Amino acid sequence: MTGSTTATMDFGGLSITYDERVLRPRPWTVAQSRWAAELLAELPDGPVLELCSGAGQIGLAAVARAGRDLVCVDLNPAAVELARLNAEAAGLRRRVTVREGRLAEAVREGEHFPLVIADPPWVETSRTGRYPEDPLEAIDGGHDGLTVACECLAVIEAHLSDDGAALLQLGSVDQVAALMSLGSGSLRALEVRRYDGGAVAHLARSDRD
Ligand SMILES: C[S@@+](CC[C@H](N)C(=O)[O-])C[C@H]1O[C@@H](n2cnc3c(N)ncnc32)[C@H](O)[C@@H]1O
Repeated sequence: MTGSTTATMDFGGLSITYDERVLRPRPWTVAQSRWAAELLAELPDGPVLELCSGAGQIGLAAVARAGRDLVCVDLNPAAVELARLNAEAAGLRRRVTVREGRLAEAVREGEHFPLVIADPPWVETSRTGRYPEDPLEAIDGGHDGLTVACECLAVIEAHLSDDGAALLQLGSVDQVAALMSLGSGSLRALEVRRYDGGAVAHLARSDRD
């Protein structure tokens, strides 16, 4: 981490290291980890996939007490480095794999996950100037804010176990509705929770109860 100024933050009981190369962990997103941990208690065995993991804190806090393996994916090498560091610090090194790359390429054909967590950038490009301290790559969701979210949705459609669940974070309930209208229809939103900083949707296969 040569040249970077690191900081640490408590996130769901974990000490998370981050620096200016990644998005500063947002305290409200611990709610996504807690929701994931609740769902995991009822979901079939298998590893958790986190898309757009950044420094890894949302996925790490979700699995910390669940005894599950975690696969994190991010295209930013600095995020990958920090996620590995944070997994080690949490005592989860053996359970956590961090893959560097674009979403669709980093998840292999035939892999299925009972829980997928996704935290894509969701700010519309025209509004990213409002957040000068955030790395552009971490917040820029394209003209409608949904470019990377669409990639996440495609990965979830292809790699979610039949009876699995996904928790996808976006900026608002309206964005969730817009995204779902762009999907294939194989997933539906069972519930959307609003928080001060954004929204989290619980997705499942449309043909499930
Ligand atoms: C909103 S940040 C979320 C980071 C972390 N989960 C958090 O909440 O702090 C989005 C992350 O997605 C990554 N990212 C953006 N586009 C991506 C893509 N096409 N494939 C993989 N990762 C991507 C960025 O590097 C960034 O770490």
